[in-house]
Amino acid sequence: MEVDFSLAISIGLVFISFVLSIFLFRRNKSDEGVKQLPPGSFGWPIIGETMEFLFGKPEVFVGERMKKYSPDIFKTKILGEKTAVICGPNGHKFLFSNEQKLFTAFRPHPMQHLFRSYQSKSSSAPPPPPPPESSDPRPKSDETKAIRQPGFLKPEALSRFLGRMDSTSNELLKAHWAGKEEVKAYPLAKIITLTLSCRFFLGVENPERIAQLVDHFDDITLGMHSIMLNIPGTIFYRANKAAAAIRKVLLEVIKEKKIAISKGAPMHDILSHMIVVTDPTGKSMPEAEIADKIMGVIVAGYSTVATTITFLMKYVGENPDIYEKIRAEQMELAASKKPGELLEWEDMQKMKYSWNVICETMRLNPPLQGTFREVLTEFTYAGYTVPKGWKVYWTVSTTNTNPTYFKNPEKFDPSRYDEGEAPAPYTYVPFGGGPRMCPGKEYARLAILAFVHNVVKNYKWEVLDPNEKVTGDMMPTPEKGLPLRLHVL
Ligand code: HEM
Repeated sequence: MEVDFSLAISIGLVFISFVLSIFLFRRNKSDEGVKQLPPGSFGWPIIGETMEFLFGKPEVFVGERMKKYSPDIFKTKILGEKTAVICGPNGHKFLFSNEQKLFTAFRPHPMQHLFRSYQSKSSSAPPPPPPPESSDPRPKSDETKAIRQPGFLKPEALSRFLGRMDSTSNELLKAHWAGKEEVKAYPLAKIITLTLSCRFFLGVENPERIAQLVDHFDDITLGMHSIMLNIPGTIFYRANKAAAAIRKVLLEVIKEKKIAISKGAPMHDILSHMIVVTDPTGKSMPEAEIADKIMGVIVAGYSTVATTITFLMKYVGENPDIYEKIRAEQMELAASKKPGELLEWEDMQKMKYSWNVICETMRLNPPLQGTFREVLTEFTYAGYTVPKGWKVYWTVSTTNTNPTYFKNPEKFDPSRYDEGEAPAPYTYVPFGGGPRMCPGKEYARLAILAFVHNVVKNYKWEVLDPNEKVTGDMMPTPEKGLPLRLHVL
């Protein structure tokens, strides 16, 4: 009996100390200064919620969590990082207005690995995140600065290239679609996009070389948001191989360009600029670094423009009234030009309806879901604290199809962008906002409009499979490439 009693006391004591230890541990944690973290879940050990993030519909991933935890902010763990997802127009505003104060750019590890071969040769260990811009001693040391600073994407440079955008679209539409009744939109959209980039950024004209690159750019784009498993058969492995193949071609191009520059060739493209630019100590950029940076820029403008063109063909093909309005706008413009005269800057400002159609296409099929930042200094948002070193993710999916901001969000309706009707501030941000807003926005606008001009001038089309499956959650594309029946006009 006695024995049983002391056993009961011992068990009781163990139980009490266990409860106490949990209580004290919790208290200690809150005493450590861990303020109220955003609600949410870090998911599974190690992988966190990466699978749900990569392989679920982005709007479902954020929508469910906004409902369950908070419409303003929730925590998760994705691609190996503790991440706060900041949501809604207020979240966008907060993020875009605190750039370099609270956050700096952060590329997920697969991206760092694919585009920073010159910093790390290791295939498994991710290189350290790039330093904050303010502490970066070399002012032109990432692809963003490389294209933001020298003015390559400024209106003057773009307006010089606009005629080429027009003639390239026309030339490639003829080369790939002339004489055909059935065609696919997506493959041509990719060729046009890549041809323009190669001409504009690299000064490369050779169509065989460009065609060679298309598949590699597809693979690398998919690999940017993938699980970093570098073993045969994985998306990441294929992306690594593609990056190596592109790098090889780019290194050849760099060598040829250097020879041409030494012989006095004109240097209008960004690649030439990167070759001749030096840092404050007079050192040129190593060739491998140039190749990686230029690859980063081309990738940023590749699937974004190509998928927008593709989905535009789908929506316009399925909505004859919208097609007629675009065609009327473009034919009026064409009629005002002499035969053979190419598009000019002022013409693009007249393509208002066509641009609205592009905007609506991007709302329903965002070319880029969102991007990450790294937290530079702990901050509080919507009553929750986000610690230094965490990552922050923003995504267009928190507003784009939200009925609070877009009436009948599923409807394709370009009139949403009519003058006086524009979406509320920070609800429609396909190019981001603030200092980090996409530097390729104007280039993309002109390239897509130049395509629209040429395609509606020459063709009418029907979408052959309106129910075609759309695959790829981070970069959605029509499974069969969007087959169309063409009618030559
Ligand atoms: C429809 C076409 C495009 C869309 C919707 C788009 C959208 C975006 C978005 C949302 C961002 C992220 C901004 C942020 O982090 O806050 C971005 C960044 C970027 N875009 Fe675009 N983009 C497009 C085309 C292009 C093109 C054609 C280029 C190059 C010519 C380009 C180059 C870049 C670069 C280099 C960045 C990184 C900027 C940085 O981190 O500071 N984009 N883009």
